Amino acid sequence: MSEKIAICPGSFDPITYGHIDIIQRAAAMFDKVIIVVMTNMNKKCAFSKEERKNMILKCVGNLKNVEVDLYDGLLADYAQFKNACAIIKGLRAMSDFEYEFQMALTNKKLNPKVETLFLTTSAENMYLSSSMVRQIASMGGDISSFVPSAIHDDIVKRLSSKEL
Ligand code: PNS
Repeated sequence: MSEKIAICPGSFDPITYGHIDIIQRAAAMFDKVIIVVMTNMNKKCAFSKEERKNMILKCVGNLKNVEVDLYDGLLADYAQFKNACAIIKGLRAMSDFEYEFQMALTNKKLNPKVETLFLTTSAENMYLSSSMVRQIASMGGDISSFVPSAIHDDIVKRLSSKEL
């Protein structure tokens, strides 16, 4: 039987415990999970794609069936190119729903072979977001309960002098 490959796409600016929870749960369900750092045209990112990829590797590089990649094109094309059967997204409070639903339907139209699967965010991460982490770090707050220690200093060093 062929390998079941899932894609976890996102901006990951930066990766948080919320993303890590979704990645770990996806890795337990699929043969291979590819985390791909992509462009969200609605967001201006604080970290470069390479920086974001390196932070992801520091957090989940220990998971044997997880790879990290960068891609600049359409998610639907990337999924086809990687022969993936699923796109995995974490779903937080209701505010995520409309946007995620629209993306899932669009991706299905562009690539009918790939299914989008939503994993419910764990209750403790319900209100956690990368933008919150950036804002707290840029104002000198404590982000240690939102991101692993492996990337804590990378974020603080980079953002503590800026207000985002
Ligand atoms: O973490 P984010 O910012 O919510 O992730 C959104 C992302 C990067 C997955 C989305 O913007 C995306 O898929 N970008 C790639 C370009 C693309 O395929 N756009 C059409 C989506 S319907």
